[in-house]
Amino acid sequence: MSASALLEVRDLSAHYGRVHALKPTSLLVNEGEIVTILGPNGAGKTTLLRAMLRLTPSTGQVFFKGKDITGLSTHRRAEEGIIMVQEGRGLFGQMSVRENLTLGAYTQPSGTMSMDDRLDKVFALFPRLKERINQIAGSLSGGEQQMVAVGRALMAEPKLLILDEPSLGLAPRVATEIIETLGALNRKGLGILLVEQKAPLALKLAKRVYVLSLGRIAAELPATDIKSHHDLAQYYLH
Ligand SMILES: Nc1ncnc2c1ncn2[C@@H]1O[C@H](COP(=O)(O)OP(=O)(O)O)[C@@H](O)[C@H]1O
Ligand SMILES: [Mg+2]
Repeated sequence: MSASALLEVRDLSAHYGRVHALKPTSLLVNEGEIVTILGPNGAGKTTLLRAMLRLTPSTGQVFFKGKDITGLSTHRRAEEGIIMVQEGRGLFGQMSVRENLTLGAYTQPSGTMSMDDRLDKVFALFPRLKERINQIAGSLSGGEQQMVAVGRALMAEPKLLILDEPSLGLAPRVATEIIETLGALNRKGLGILLVEQKAPLALKLAKRVYVLSLGRIAAELPATDIKSHHDLAQYYLH
């Protein structure tokens, strides 16, 4: 394993009953890198992420910063700095924006920054959330809710931020705004693993891309090699 590897997944495999949703899959995210996983609906993207976090049973190995974390619980992985923004956001709809954000810090109660400093950092990225700090999360627009979900993940001071289709259900302009914010975070050194179904959006940001199709990695490419849907379709249709 190379010295700069942040996350390495080896032969991760998962079943639902008799359905082999994730065939043995290996991938790598280096320190400071942004890696994208593209694939059609049902390809196994969410299963792969859930297996990485041990939210779903799997076989195979997961290494983080050179350490074998295969035996660690989801919570312990979060404490190590692996934080995911789940598909569908998973906010507490009846709680305020502030409460949702603050809850994100629970895996790092005595992190490097104070709670107020962490909140200020989130507000610098998403000024709209500051205006809505006392609003009930469930009353926000879809885009604002996704900002809360990303903000909540950042409150945990992640070393690797994993996002499962953050653009889902959002207007293109809002989705682009969120993707661009991820780009800014990455330029500051945050490792990011972005799962997307919408290739044109993800490719604004992507440098290295894994294409997942039918539960396996069909290709690993530099993003510059994917110029059209046609290029991707050949992998999707394996
Ligand atoms: N809880 C589950 N029980 C049974 N089958 C599931 C479950 N979750 C996902 N699957 C199946 O596993 C495959 C991969 O699903 P998923 O990982 O959600 O794909 P993606 O995120 O790429 O859309 C699909 O065929 C899906 O129907
Ligand atoms: Mg999914």
